[in-house]
Amino acid sequence: MSNNYQVQNLPDYFKQYKKSIKNPKKFWDKIADENFVWYQRWSKVLEYDMESANIKWFKNAKLNITKNCLDRHLSTRGDKTAIIFEPNNPEEEARYISYQELYDEVGKMANVLQSQGVKKGDRVVIYLPMIPELAITMLACARLGAIHSVVFAGFSSSAVSSRINDCDAKVVVTSDGSYRGAKTLDLKSIVDEALDKSPQVEKVLVVKRTNQAVKMKEGRDFWLDELLEKAPKDFVSVIMDAEDPLFILYTSGSTGKPKGMVHTTAGYMVYIGYTFKNVFNYQENDVYWCTADIGWITGHSYILYGPLLNGATTVIFEGVPTYPQPDRFWEVIEKHKVTQFYTAPTAIRSLAKESVEWVDKHDLSSLKVIGSVGEPINEEAWHWYNDQIGKKKCPIVDTWWQTETGGILISPLPFVTPTKPTYATLPLPGIQPVLMNEKRIEITENQQNGNLCIRFPWPGIARTIWGDHQRYIDTYFKAFPGKYFTGDGALRDEVGYYRITGRVDDVIIVSGHNLGTAPIEDSINEHPAVAESAIVGYPHDVKGNALYGYVMLKEVGEDRDKENLRKEINHLISEQIGPIAKLDKIQFVSSLPKTRSGKIMRRILRKIAEGDFSNFGDTSTLLNPEIVDEIKNQRIN
Ligand code: WT7
Repeated sequence: MSNNYQVQNLPDYFKQYKKSIKNPKKFWDKIADENFVWYQRWSKVLEYDMESANIKWFKNAKLNITKNCLDRHLSTRGDKTAIIFEPNNPEEEARYISYQELYDEVGKMANVLQSQGVKKGDRVVIYLPMIPELAITMLACARLGAIHSVVFAGFSSSAVSSRINDCDAKVVVTSDGSYRGAKTLDLKSIVDEALDKSPQVEKVLVVKRTNQAVKMKEGRDFWLDELLEKAPKDFVSVIMDAEDPLFILYTSGSTGKPKGMVHTTAGYMVYIGYTFKNVFNYQENDVYWCTADIGWITGHSYILYGPLLNGATTVIFEGVPTYPQPDRFWEVIEKHKVTQFYTAPTAIRSLAKESVEWVDKHDLSSLKVIGSVGEPINEEAWHWYNDQIGKKKCPIVDTWWQTETGGILISPLPFVTPTKPTYATLPLPGIQPVLMNEKRIEITENQQNGNLCIRFPWPGIARTIWGDHQRYIDTYFKAFPGKYFTGDGALRDEVGYYRITGRVDDVIIVSGHNLGTAPIEDSINEHPAVAESAIVGYPHDVKGNALYGYVMLKEVGEDRDKENLRKEINHLISEQIGPIAKLDKIQFVSSLPKTRSGKIMRRILRKIAEGDFSNFGDTSTLLNPEIVDEIKNQRIN
């Protein structure tokens, strides 16, 4: 993105914003035209219908995103570092991968994938740790037009197989193992277990990382380094249509199975390129570091695609914040002279609990902008981040967005928007937030709370849920007709700044991970002693929210040792979803508060979990109001 597209100051922001709302097509047309390379221009900037959730940006344009991330930088930035790889163990040397090297590696990988039978439109599931091969594999898929679906390498084998099956992937890329702090995880065995339930997978390509012994299935499993050795570097990028899917990324919903959000090529590219440049105030020679895992949308958009589209240097960090010691983040910032640092409130809170000496040991003067994402950042954490890390001179960008939105929608722009603790502040150009009340009427006044919706499509919005367009319509476009509903509540202050207050549906954000209550309840209910369950979130000082489960047992469970049952339930959740979804508290109840229509009244359960017995609101619709007292009296502290 050229510097002409960087918003300069507050008046310039208002000017750009106005333009982008008055004529969104013209606004994005110019950005797309002047900042990216295309095989063919579009015939129409935008075509959309909110009711059928049919959205097309840059219709009929032809392009390949990797030409924009790699090829076009070679003449001017060939030797520039594209990726700095910082390994889990600080004693292992960091790797610096130039744009030319990255281009070569991606070309080889694309040739390997092609020789293994991967074609345009095929789905490739990637289950890798935070190593350069993860980025390379994603780009290689994009180069040949295959749709990548990255599964976070902390998910269990059932989560892996359900995702493989949902998108019907024939090829999986994984590694022998992964390093996470002092631990080593056995990724290949997890994949093997997953494939028992996904027999359609034809090829498994395995990266060597930990060199631990793994089982290789003849004819199905191949060591990637052996294949790469023989592969040529050049691979002409496949011509993609603007609306061809680029990737699928699963996110939890409030009901049922995870949703495979589909992002397409041109709109995603334009939106991510533009927002990266502006939200992080990226300048040539900056070193940008986002600590998220590439397995989440934050990593897709703002570790990989956003930085590379801008010819930036991006850090890929394999480790965890506290290994070998709680100053790892600060050490890495000093070591690589990081200029933009982007992390999550849960990490900030846990590091703020450590002695500030860990921070003071390091020179953080390279930092210019620091960011936060994933959940609301509380005031205390905001101030600690501002004072101790930003030293009061780095603007904090509290960026609000979602897997579904592709990129950041509401955020301060550094050195442009005055920040305000706990506020994501103003919408980016092109974004039209609206607050809606329960009666589906738009709230036009300020200093009001409401359901956060977006009025008009932006280029980065997901286009559908893989294999289930109706669910996409029902989830996002039904509640408030004509608008995209985010599932979040927000407050707008007297000057129009937005503060995200949290989810209004059955999604709970734990340590920045978006967890749906339904899939967790489904796994609890699989326990033979469990009749029914309900989980809610309650505030937790490090994780933001923790999970509290109310479990009703069948008769067979009543004589069982309750501590053992708790362990078994958490074990089940861990196996089926992953350790991040384990419950902190489990209370056994004789029944759950239900309305006459059979819906569990979560509002009450939430209040009890929070220890707030002041006012349960209207309980007249409850079928069994007497249960509330029992649950209250047996609450776990
Ligand atoms: C949900 C989306 C966006 C990438 C990471 C999470 C919450 C996200 C903020 C923020 C308050 C936030 C929302 C949103 N959220 N960023 N800055 N302030 N809440 O992506 O897993 O799709 O989760 O995360 O509730 O809806 P995701």
